[in-house]
Amino acid sequence: MTPVLSNETSAKRLYHKLQDMLGDVVPDFELKYKAELAAEINRLKVEKNAVILGHNYMEPALFHSIPDYVGDSLDLARKAATTDKDIIVFCGVRFMAETAKILSPTRTVLLPSKKAGCSLAASITAADVRDLKEKFPGVPVVTYVNTYADVKAESDVCCTSSNAAAVVESLNSDTVIFLPDEYLAKNVARETGRHIIFPTKDPRNGSASELDYQMIGWPGRCEVHEKFTLDDISSIRRQFPDVVILAHPECSPEVVDASDFSGSTNAMIRYVEQTKAPRYLLLTECSMGDNIAAVNPEKEMLRLCSVRCPHMNQITLEDTLASLEKNQYVIDIPEHVLLRATRAVERMIAIG
Ligand code: 13P
Ligand code: SF4
Repeated sequence: MTPVLSNETSAKRLYHKLQDMLGDVVPDFELKYKAELAAEINRLKVEKNAVILGHNYMEPALFHSIPDYVGDSLDLARKAATTDKDIIVFCGVRFMAETAKILSPTRTVLLPSKKAGCSLAASITAADVRDLKEKFPGVPVVTYVNTYADVKAESDVCCTSSNAAAVVESLNSDTVIFLPDEYLAKNVARETGRHIIFPTKDPRNGSASELDYQMIGWPGRCEVHEKFTLDDISSIRRQFPDVVILAHPECSPEVVDASDFSGSTNAMIRYVEQTKAPRYLLLTECSMGDNIAAVNPEKEMLRLCSVRCPHMNQITLEDTLASLEKNQYVIDIPEHVLLRATRAVERMIAIG
């Protein structure tokens, strides 16, 4: 999707345009208030020579009003690497802002909320990765970008949900350590025809050499995507036989299998835009359905309930304005971590 309002500094015009797009999902008084905040952010952004990057999971009024670029993790990492602005304000979660800093170390990178974490990033530490490397010497480590900089620094190469299989295959290695998302790892193992083990869960821990495996995983989970079940899918298919179901690869392999398509947030958006079906169910963060519906009014986006990411949800227009006004919260990565993490992220960007 291409943001169309990111240069708009008139609150009145912003309000009318947001009302056209979001009048059905956001109450009018809220749109008026949010349009005022967004107009001030767009004015300040120019004054401070800043760029705003917005992940696809941002709430609809923010998503459609202030980001200069919107996209999935890989897309936004690429944008961060090529910006010529002094300041990058990252409307997303902390690991994404850190990736922006890694790729653009001379810029000031701001994250509007200190609480914007991620259950996957919190599931593993740099010491955990060092332990695995000791247990499986010489095996290359692929790390999902949903990790903090010190974990990336222990890795050979990073990946996102849109290039994970390509990154694994690019290594030409019989065995790969793939961290930390259990479900993404299982989905990639299946896609690349590999057998995966989880040494931290396996009762035969310590005798891994006796097992037949090509991938070594970690039991991290996304607290949003692990909620979707096969029952959700069959109940929706019973009620709406013509529904097209899309699942993010952080969902379980069973859920991915029972869906019609699986891909990164950008890939899901593209799929809906290019498919002619009347209704869709996205098994991912709920705001994304609202963001797609706003610019594709002829398509019905079904909702199971409100499955919002509590971390993405921390990023508000109020905090983004405060972030620009007060230069907060600055992302800082120690030099020795930054240097090693850069290698892993740049290697991923080179693969595509
Ligand atoms: P994407 O890379 O597909 O945007 O996913 C990021 C994420 O955090 C999904 O939960
Ligand atoms: Fe992390 Fe899941 Fe939220 Fe994405 S949706 S930021 S993986 S907790």
